[in-house]
Amino acid sequence: MKLLDIKNLNLSFKMENGVFPALYDVSLSLNKGEIHALVGESGCGKTMTAMSIIKLLPKNAIITSGEIIYNDTDILKSSDKELRNIRGSKIALIPQDPMTSLNPLYTIGNQLLEIIEKDKSLTKEEMREKCIEVLELVKLPDPKNKLDIYPHELSGGMKQRVIIAMALASKAEIIIADEPTTALDVTIQAQIMKLLNEIKKEFNTSILLITHDLGLVGEYADEISVMYSGRIVENARKDEFFNNTLHPYSKALMGALPANTNDKILKTIDGQPPNLQEEIIGCRFSPRCEDCDITVCQELPCLKEKTPNHFVSCHKV
Ligand SMILES: Nc1ncnc2c1ncn2[C@@H]1O[C@H](COP(=O)(O)OP(=O)(O)OP(=O)(O)O)[C@@H](O)[C@H]1O
Ligand SMILES: [Mg+2]
Repeated sequence: MKLLDIKNLNLSFKMENGVFPALYDVSLSLNKGEIHALVGESGCGKTMTAMSIIKLLPKNAIITSGEIIYNDTDILKSSDKELRNIRGSKIALIPQDPMTSLNPLYTIGNQLLEIIEKDKSLTKEEMREKCIEVLELVKLPDPKNKLDIYPHELSGGMKQRVIIAMALASKAEIIIADEPTTALDVTIQAQIMKLLNEIKKEFNTSILLITHDLGLVGEYADEISVMYSGRIVENARKDEFFNNTLHPYSKALMGALPANTNDKILKTIDGQPPNLQEEIIGCRFSPRCEDCDITVCQELPCLKEKTPNHFVSCHKV
């Protein structure tokens, strides 16, 4: 069941020298109780897609068209009051840098209480119990004593656990995890991903997982969308994606996985993604594409269903 449906989202940035598109016709949906991974190189538009969902965008961003349907309504048309309600209790964001979500001036307990006290039926003592309960759920060691400490007293991984606890306290139906483990070391990364996966299973939470890391995707995602230069270039269920990768860019990303190279050294993809202001005729991946055929690729490709539920945007597939 589709819980969130982004339809043909177009977003541009107003800059000194003009207006430049950053997201083109992005469509992406999130099913109940699933992890949908959004993958792509730095600057391709993952965070802007995520922030559009909660409408927390830079001042110079303009959504020029599209819909984001959640509970039969278009988030993009919601009032500020409705948006605050959605952000606080329906859709939670786990950002790359946990300090952007935690207030350094308040204790962990106070920040959790702020969310929990929205439920007016609880007594003070029950609220405190609830705080401890969510900290236990995210496996923060010694939760009782964590209530009175400040964010700077926690490690990066523990801060990320507190933010996940805040999402649980708000009973969020959707968690947007924007590179939730990039700032953490490898063992902690695995623990945080495991925790998010457990939450998905236990609470039937839907997670939009934004990542550079196809290894994580292979392990945890149910569905995958690959983004390149502001467009979704491929979308499929996880097994189909890994067994039958179609887009040359996705193939290049797969080729860059250590397990797929003989020498076990991470390959990078030759060339750089274009910047927003760069005009490219036709397919935006064509300057880096090994399969590019200039006679057909000068035409803009659009996302087409090649096999059931497997969408790809490439003339050569
Ligand atoms: N306020 C802004 N004004 C102009 N351009 C912007 C602004 N914010 C972001 N951009 C540009 O929009 C594009 C998409 O940015 P976004 O942050 O979504 O990328 P990303 O895929 O999340 O990258 P990363 O993996 O590095 O986090 C980038 O080219 C970025 O430079
Ligand atoms: Mg980002």
